[in-house]
Order: sequence, then structure tokens, then C-alpha cells
Amino acid sequence: MLILNDISLKDYNTFGIDVMAKHFVSVNTIDELTTALKLKEYSKKFILGGGSNILLTKNMDALVIHINLKGKEIVSQIKDTVIVKSQAGENWHEFVLWCLKQDYGGLENMSLIPGNVGTAPIQNIGAYGVELKDHFISCEAIDLQTLERKTFNNSDCDFGYRNSIFKQAAKGKYIITSVNFRLSIKNHTLRTNYGSIQEELNSLKVIPTIQNISKAVINIRESKLPNPKEIGNSGSFFKNPIINKTQFKILEEKFPDVPSYSISEETIKVPAGWLIEKAGFKGKTFKNYGVHKKQALVLVNYGGAKGGDILKLSKLIQETIYRIFDISIETEVNIL
Ligand code: EPU
Repeated sequence: MLILNDISLKDYNTFGIDVMAKHFVSVNTIDELTTALKLKEYSKKFILGGGSNILLTKNMDALVIHINLKGKEIVSQIKDTVIVKSQAGENWHEFVLWCLKQDYGGLENMSLIPGNVGTAPIQNIGAYGVELKDHFISCEAIDLQTLERKTFNNSDCDFGYRNSIFKQAAKGKYIITSVNFRLSIKNHTLRTNYGSIQEELNSLKVIPTIQNISKAVINIRESKLPNPKEIGNSGSFFKNPIINKTQFKILEEKFPDVPSYSISEETIKVPAGWLIEKAGFKGKTFKNYGVHKKQALVLVNYGGAKGGDILKLSKLIQETIYRIFDISIETEVNIL
């Protein structure tokens, strides 16, 4: 286990923000992780996963512990179902592709989401009608205070839209080290009715299989979302706001073309991307950063941008949306 000093975190966050970590260690085993956590000489510690959901606005005066736990295994197989365990440091998309190669179904609609398996439960990642919680059985975690191991079952996690206990009551208290998923091995449920999946399958001229759904999702995402390897970004920067129906009626009167998804009897989700586009920000570029031209929900670093600049832009967007639509939009990305 090698502790490095004064290293750039540019390659460890998908926004590609160049800030420095005072100390940095990449841990490959649980033992290395607990050893790193016990190091008393470093009073401040920061846990880094795939770096795909953070905006770094300043240098980190801490020991940055990079979770590099690797490994995937089949835990058990009962009838049409398999339970698969992945260590936290596995890349999410590579894990999805590995499952599809074995013909395990469930995660295909969540293809190409950036980040690691271990951080996916924190915000209950989701795309094209499926959320992590739909296939999550449990995760193993380490309590940062006691260093004891703890298992969180699905119901312990309080999963919600881009939300979980790890963003609420358990925030900053645990490190997820592995996740167990329930997947199908035959009679897969094919979810093609969300967004343009069916359209994409038609244009690919393929029948719906879990592998082809994954291909369709990859094509759709690639056509709308910037590849972080080419343009720094953290996917959706904001959450889609959920407002009450009375408020929605007022909005719809002013803007009859507003898209919406009913959430409950009283609440409606409005796409933040639409609000941001309507407010005139889509494709806006400021020096070396801006709002993506194909998806207004994504803020981008064209190279060399400072986290603080992107933060300022996000605040300007929030204020403008509030002024025009009387709606508060929350960031989905964690700001540090
Ligand atoms: N829209 C616009 N302008 C835009 C973007 C979107 O008008 O610039 C409108 C679209 O026309 C559509 C609606 O907003 O009517 C929804 O757009 P889209 O289907 O692209 O989905 P989204 O709500 O913008 C969410 C997730 C994405 C996920 C997609 C597909 C959140 C915050 N984002 O985006 O997740 O890939 O649905 O399921 O829920 C991520 O979390 O990083 C992410 C990319």
C-alpha cells in the first residue's frame, strides 16, 4: 500500500477537474482499506469511488482513499434467478457488460452509466425505466467509526429517486465494499417501453433481447450524453424536480408544452433539462465550460475549467429557474 503525496485528482473524477490531493492511497483489499482508515497521522480522510458524481472545487487537504476493490462472483443460483456479487471498485458499465455476457438480465437498461458498483447504491442510479434498487439485494459496508462490517438489505437502504440512506441518515458514515444483485438467467423481463428504446431497436433492426436493449441504450446515451473521456462531465448535474399538482397547473398554464411524469396522486416530476433549455442555457459556453448542447441537464468541462466556475454556473442556472418557473432544482452531483 503506497501513500502518495501531492497528486492531481484530474484522472480520478469524470469532470476532469485538476485539483490536488495532499495524500492519496489506492486500496485493493478490505485489509488495506481498514489499515488506511486506521492511519492516525492523517486526521482528515476522504473516500473516492469512481469519481463520476462529484464536482471538486478545491484542493483536498486530506488522505484520499481510492476504493479499488475488484472481483465479481456468482453467489447462488435458484431456478431462474442468480445472485451475483461485485466488489465496490468494479466499473459499473463493465459489470453490466459482464452480466450480459453470461446472459444475466436486469441491468441492461442501465448500460453506460459512469461510475463504480460501490457508489451506485448511494444515489440509486437509474435510467430508461429501471433503478438499481430493482435488482439490489444487499451491500456490505464498513462503519467508518468502528470499522465493523455491516450488511444493508434492500429495505434498510430507503431507496428513492436518486436517493438512499447513504445520502441521508448514513451519509459519510459507511464505505460500501461490495453489492449483491438479483438477476434473471432466463425468461428475462424486457423493458423496451421507456423513451426511445423501442425506436432504437427498430432502427437497429434487431429483436429485443437483453443484449440488444443494452446496445440500444448505449446508442441513445452516446447520441445525447457526452463521453467523459472526451468531455469532462458528471452526467445529470441536477435532479428532476418533483412539484405538487397545484404548482404544476400554474406552470402548465404559462408553458403548455411542459413535459411531465406523474409520481403520485399529488406530485409530478418535471424534467430539469427542459426547464434549463427553456431558460436559454442549453449549449451555452463560457470560456472552457458550459451546458451540453444535446442535453441541458449536463454541465461540461471542455478542458481546464475550475470546479468553482462550474459551481457558479450551476448556481446561476438554479437562480434563473427559480425566477422564471418558481421551481427549485437540486444538484444531483456532490459538490466538494
Ligand atoms: N429535455 C429537454 N431538453 C433537454 C433535455 C431534456 O427538453 O436538454 C426533455 C426531453 O425532451 C424529455 C425530458 O426532458 O421530454 C426527459 O429527458 P430525458 O429522457 O433525456 O431524461 P432526463 O430526465 O433528462 C433522466 C436521468 C438520466 C437518464 C435519463 C434516461 C435524472 C436526473 N436523469 O434524464 O440519468 O439517463 O433520464 O432514463 O433523473 C444521470 O443521472 O447522470 C443520468 C444521465
